[in-house]
Amino acid sequence: MKNLNIKSLFNFNKKIILITGSSGQIGSSIVKLFLSLGSKVYGFDKIKNKIKHDDYEFIKADIRNKSEVRRKISRIVKKNNRIDVIVNTAAVSIFSKYDKRTNSELDKTINTNIKGLLNVINSYVNIHKKNSLKKCSIINFGSIYGFLSPDFRIYGNKDRFSSEIYGASKAAVIQLTKYYSVMLSKYNINVNCLSPGGIFNNQKPQNKKFVKRYSKRVPLDRMGNVKNLFTGILFLASDRSSYVSGQNIIIDGGLSSW
Ligand SMILES: NC(=O)c1ccc[n+]([C@@H]2O[C@H](COP(=O)([O-])OP(=O)(O)OC[C@H]3O[C@@H](n4cnc5c(N)ncnc54)[C@H](O)[C@@H]3O)[C@@H](O)[C@H]2O)c1
Repeated sequence: MKNLNIKSLFNFNKKIILITGSSGQIGSSIVKLFLSLGSKVYGFDKIKNKIKHDDYEFIKADIRNKSEVRRKISRIVKKNNRIDVIVNTAAVSIFSKYDKRTNSELDKTINTNIKGLLNVINSYVNIHKKNSLKKCSIINFGSIYGFLSPDFRIYGNKDRFSSEIYGASKAAVIQLTKYYSVMLSKYNINVNCLSPGGIFNNQKPQNKKFVKRYSKRVPLDRMGNVKNLFTGILFLASDRSSYVSGQNIIIDGGLSSW
């Protein structure tokens, strides 16, 4: 076997990357990650963040709006003749209890986390087919709460729970990842999911008691940080995972193992 050059195995120089939810905690870190590797990055979000870089273009886009999403993806493809990787992080969470659920909270979660994600994938696929594009890697963001119930004891008495509808929407993301991996294989589009456990927020730290209780639930004894997701993202984004599709990679410090 020839010597493997690790740098060339994970080469993202000049790759065209689209990240939805690019102004969020995780999305903005992924934008910076790909910029540091020489990629050209496009970010979709409803709100702008402060990232300024010659290779970064923020595009104000609401993923719930299908025609807007299609138009804006089309513009990226026209300019670059391809999109190599799409990372779907845009999502909303609802924190009130299930028995206080309103229809507008249900609609907002479903319209963003499921229908919005479908708008992005379906719009891209139509453009991919129309332009006979060669390949693409799609990475969706699920959550451990897409396949586990939260342990509500860690949330204390405050009315700020990870909700049933958020978990149900993330279960849908894991499922539709599998569905699309099969449907899109003939177009050379790989579709995978990354499901993080709780990520510590450096900008707006979570309540100290919550962090302590949550950490106790984790075999590795702490919440995750955004950088813990990077290797999973780079693996799924790289050509090295071209034989990986329909998978849900869980990065949770082992929480889902007990
Ligand atoms: N942070 C965690 O602990 C954690 C754990 C498990 C899974 N996740 C998942 O990871 C992803 C990113 O999480 P995060 O912590 O960065 O969340 P975040 O709330 O910080 O970021 C989400 C971003 O999505 C954007 N967004 C929401 N609705 C949108 C819409 N309709 N159109 C365009 N943009 C929209 C928001 O403006 C925000 O910038 C989400 O899918 C989330 O469910 C996060």
